[in-house]
Amino acid sequence: MSVLDIDFVRAQFPAFAEPSLNGQAFFENAGGSYTCRHVIDRLTRFYTQRKVQPYAPYEASRLGGAEMDEARTRLAALMGVATDELSFGPSTTQNTYVLAQAFRKMMKPGEAIIVTNQDHEANTGPWRRLAEEGIEVREWKLDPQTGHLDTAQLENLLDENVRLVCFPHCSNVVGEINPVAEITAMAHAAGAFVCVDGVSYAPHGLPNVDELGADIYLFSSYKTYGPHQGVMVIRRALGALLPNQAHYFNAGDLYKRFTPAGPDHAQVAASAGMADYFEALADHHGHSGSAAETGAFVHDLMRAHEIKLLQPLLDAVKDRNDLRLLGPSTAENRAPTVALALNRTAEPVAAQLAEHGIMAGGGDFYAVRALEAMGIDPSEGVLRISFTHYTSEAEVAKLIEALDRVL
Ligand SMILES: Cc1ncc(COP(=O)(O)O)c(C=O)c1O
Repeated sequence: MSVLDIDFVRAQFPAFAEPSLNGQAFFENAGGSYTCRHVIDRLTRFYTQRKVQPYAPYEASRLGGAEMDEARTRLAALMGVATDELSFGPSTTQNTYVLAQAFRKMMKPGEAIIVTNQDHEANTGPWRRLAEEGIEVREWKLDPQTGHLDTAQLENLLDENVRLVCFPHCSNVVGEINPVAEITAMAHAAGAFVCVDGVSYAPHGLPNVDELGADIYLFSSYKTYGPHQGVMVIRRALGALLPNQAHYFNAGDLYKRFTPAGPDHAQVAASAGMADYFEALADHHGHSGSAAETGAFVHDLMRAHEIKLLQPLLDAVKDRNDLRLLGPSTAENRAPTVALALNRTAEPVAAQLAEHGIMAGGGDFYAVRALEAMGIDPSEGVLRISFTHYTSEAEVAKLIEALDRVL
């Protein structure tokens, strides 16, 4: 198993060479990551050389359209799905909103959906509104102590009325990685589809959606080294069944059916830079193989580095009696998104950390339901520390020292 070459990684992100950011360690990655140079270069190229309506028969337009198609083709391949099963929308929140409109039309009163109180509001609020249509909304509740979602509880909620189960691959405050394949298999056995919010997971390695079995898998590219877009994987069987939400004459194109707005051409095209980056990482570490194999290799490479850096941070906070660590204290089963409840308002503590060269945030992070369910006042919020594979050991050491000073 290769060890991540952190110097190579950081050289791919202009932010690490930016004088105004020098000396500041970035720990609010779950809010939005730094952007890799491949994406920035493609965005600049699009705006300078291709800023015309795409898909017309002149060279600049043809190239612009080809780059937009390339983004979908290559990201889909990395995630183990067909090109037309991947589409872009303005954000994950807007994507779930559109998808919920489609389910609203497809479902009948008396049918049920399952949502969690562990999710970011984006993958729960829009679905809960289906209650307005007479659809029964069942809540899969997290454990108030640990934040854990127990699959035994899900089993009790599933029956033949359930059409859809919505849950996160990983919550943006609990951090625990949920067993997507297992949950999906349970939902499918009961005849339900699943919608997985992968926003907090994808930055730590794109999953193979085919292997997970999920019907819908969502993530936000601006948290995954790319431009500000929401990426949707909708598997063909479900996409064809759900009513079209786009212009009627676009109903035949799966990748257009759930994107009613005209897409942001430049950002869609620039998203191919995410694939450039993942492939460059694999290549640099001596890997070659199919796109899906590259996706898996990069995933494991990133995770191994993150796990190594995360455990010391968890160890530094887990036994303190002046704070509460949300989620597991073991790095293997969680993302490096670490929320701490402090029994006081978190944001001023984040401001203190800034004085020590740490960029982090405090608040509810739109996981209001999860915080409330865990007995945390959302107005006090949590201090959230989140990093990715491009974070260095030295930065984590600096963070631990800074935490010692401000807590
Ligand atoms: C877990 C999770 N899901 C969904 C979202 C919403 O994503 P977007 O900003 O693309 O709407 C976020 C954003 O913070 C998130 O952390």
